[in-house]
Amino acid sequence: RLVYILNGPNLNLLGKRQPQIYGYETLADVEADCRKLAGELKLDIRFHQSNREYEIIDWVHEARESAGAIVINPAAFTHTSVAILDALNTFDGPVIEVHISNVHKRESFRHHSYVSLRADGVIAGLGTQGYQLALRRVAQLLEEKKG
Ligand code: DQA
Repeated sequence: RLVYILNGPNLNLLGKRQPQIYGYETLADVEADCRKLAGELKLDIRFHQSNREYEIIDWVHEARESAGAIVINPAAFTHTSVAILDALNTFDGPVIEVHISNVHKRESFRHHSYVSLRADGVIAGLGTQGYQLALRRVAQLLEEKKG
């Protein structure tokens, strides 16, 4: 019951970056919240962030070998990356796409997501709480799969 939680470019600056849009919580805070909840849900997590597209692709490949589910905030790569979509398409388990902001309320270039073509669910605009909601959903899906 391992879950990869992957974060794309500029999310290392979460808390400092446009806080009026993304809030004041840092990515370390998000990770701490996810770890606490994962403990309660009896999930193991690997939590990663990168500004480099290939690293995210490599983590998806790693997840293929070991993980039951992926929670991903691809950040700006959401709107550009066929390569991340292709990588996610090689993964068998549930994939939940998370956006901190409500991308649909923002510039039109944020309305399209390549990753949504693969995601089983999408959470947007619920702030950093979206990660925890995604983890809860994934725990439920993995439980159902176990039967
Ligand atoms: C984001 C939304 C993206 O459009 C943006 O490029 C990000 C963060 C979000 O979490 O709201 O970097 O994925």
